Amino acid sequence: MALFLAASLFISLIVSASSIAAAPSPSAVVNGGIASTAQEMQRARYFTFVMLIRMVQEKIPHNTTFLMPNDRMLSTASIPENQVLEFLSRHSIPALLMFDDLIRLPNGTIVPTSHSSQTITITNMENQKLYFNNVELTSPDVCHVGNLFRGKASNVH
Ligand SMILES: *[C@@H]1O[C@H](CO)[C@@H](O)[C@H](O)[C@H]1NC(C)=O
Ligand SMILES: *[C@@H]1O[C@H](CO)[C@@H](O)[C@H](O)[C@H]1NC(C)=O
Repeated sequence: MALFLAASLFISLIVSASSIAAAPSPSAVVNGGIASTAQEMQRARYFTFVMLIRMVQEKIPHNTTFLMPNDRMLSTASIPENQVLEFLSRHSIPALLMFDDLIRLPNGTIVPTSHSSQTITITNMENQKLYFNNVELTSPDVCHVGNLFRGKASNVH
């Protein structure tokens, strides 16, 4: 399956912070963490991406940063049920990265995705605009503890 990122025009950055300590069991930590992240995504109206997350949410590792194509883009994708996790892993970076972390990376930094055969090149254009494989980041930090849509949240186009 092709990396949809490359075909989509805009993506947003979602960070799934893991809940730390004091949780009754590891699975509760995973579910609680990803469930609240999914709620934030939903409030930000990434309905299709939320649906994909919920299909496999117990398999999503902690400390993941999601690169979310918007609903319009996802409506053109056909993702077989058994490839949902793979699709999400190609749109994830296995680290908690906020916009402030990303903007400090050297221009052209290549980062791994959660999928072993896929990397993403992060380009830093002028005016603090970040591109992931030439796809513009429009809404950084959609999920960040009570700090929705920090930075640019562009719905232009
Ligand atoms: C997630 O990140 C935190 C803080 O960096 C770290 O303490 C924790 O071990 C990480 N959890 C996993 C499952 O990698
Ligand atoms: C980063 O690299 C791209 C091309 O690879 C270039 O167009 C852009 O101006 C560079 N950004 C900065 C801030 O130098």
